[in-house]
Amino acid sequence: GNVSLWGGRFAGGPSEALQALSQSTHFDWRLAGHDISGSVAHAHVLHGAGLLTDDELTAMVDALERLRADVASGAFLPVLEDEDVHTALERGLIDRAGADVGGKLRAGRSRNDQIATLVRMYLREESRGLARLVLDVVDALVAQADRAGEAPMPGRTHLQHAQPVLLAHHLLAHAWPLLRDVERWIDWDARAALSPYGSGALAGSSLGLDPAAVATELGFAGPVENSIDGTASRDVVAEFAFVAAMLAVDVSRLAEEVVLWATKEFGFVKLHDAYSTGSSIMPQKKNPDVAELARGKAGRLIGDLTGLLTTLKGLPLAYNRDLQEDKEPVFDQVDQLSVLLPAFAGMVATLEFDTERLASLAPQGFSLATDIAEWLVRTGVPFRVAHEVAGACVRACEEHEPAIELWDLTDDELAAISPHLTPEVRTVLTVEGSLASRSAHGGTAPVRVAEQLDRARARAAEL
Ligand code: ARG
Repeated sequence: GNVSLWGGRFAGGPSEALQALSQSTHFDWRLAGHDISGSVAHAHVLHGAGLLTDDELTAMVDALERLRADVASGAFLPVLEDEDVHTALERGLIDRAGADVGGKLRAGRSRNDQIATLVRMYLREESRGLARLVLDVVDALVAQADRAGEAPMPGRTHLQHAQPVLLAHHLLAHAWPLLRDVERWIDWDARAALSPYGSGALAGSSLGLDPAAVATELGFAGPVENSIDGTASRDVVAEFAFVAAMLAVDVSRLAEEVVLWATKEFGFVKLHDAYSTGSSIMPQKKNPDVAELARGKAGRLIGDLTGLLTTLKGLPLAYNRDLQEDKEPVFDQVDQLSVLLPAFAGMVATLEFDTERLASLAPQGFSLATDIAEWLVRTGVPFRVAHEVAGACVRACEEHEPAIELWDLTDDELAAISPHLTPEVRTVLTVEGSLASRSAHGGTAPVRVAEQLDRARARAAEL
């Protein structure tokens, strides 16, 4: 039979080619549960407007709940002729409630307001689940930072040795952006929490239906202000996609460090067997595939965001079928993050840092030169001069064959560079001295990092 939703105007069904192009059930079927919840809420407002009798409402809701159970069990599935999730579920409803009752549900709503509502319901729910998974990564970072204690490492800028920092400080520098990503989804939710249901195709409904009642029943804070905006806009979807892409980028930056750290040349970290892979040909290999996949998936998630924004950029108001293309990008983001984040959290939790190697590398590469300059400043030397003097120390070290480190300079060599360089300068030529001196808020001094660790842990627990 003709299962399409627009039989009256059309003499025949769609061509096979159109059907193949148009169909979305292979991806929008995941919205079926939300669609049915929307239909139950819509039945309630139809009843409230006097458009369904008590008995019809009971029969309708009963049929929808049976349909929900059949969808959940897999007993009811979309067929080839069902254009989208809405079409399929209307067929399922009419099968169960009969055409007289089932045929009344569509009054006053359009697939345009339906789909705009369902995608918000879906993304709001998924954002909460994904946020838990992000917090598992944060927990793993916080636990590693806790375990690292006061262990130092070489801090880098431009990938060159810069200044010694605490390993815990560095690990927490990856935790804060992830906490902000979770906060971004929480902020986003305030904008996603408005329901387009009741917008109809674009202009609203003439049937006396109450959009606020539907919104409340579906867990929204209220209805959207403008029915055209409600059906035509997807900025809420794009903002979700930005947060997902940003999160993937934040994860990818840590992933890149893990890839580097696990090399022979860096030798900072060992990966657990359960979170690394071997080679089919090279028996010695242990590869950081979790980190590499994280890096790779970041590109994919950026692509999802980019594709979505590109779909939106030229669209006139109100609904256009192009908007059907809004879903696969964000569904893909959700699916990718759902498999990535648990593996990533496990990899981070099981990293084994070579803290001895990190400690021995921390002062190398003249990373204490800034400490010399700042020590001179504390003795009254202008920074311009101090910077030159410290730089001259580095040059003196490099003139040795082979080069020596700053603390290897003799008292005479120091005095020859500058009379200000008394032997007391040696107090800052240690990693411990350098770390302890950076004791302002947010700095790498152990006492500050311990406080920071407490705050990161507390923030993660709050979210
Ligand atoms: N499958 C459509 C979508 O995802 C639902 C809305 C279709 N509306 C329409 N008038 N064709 O956007």
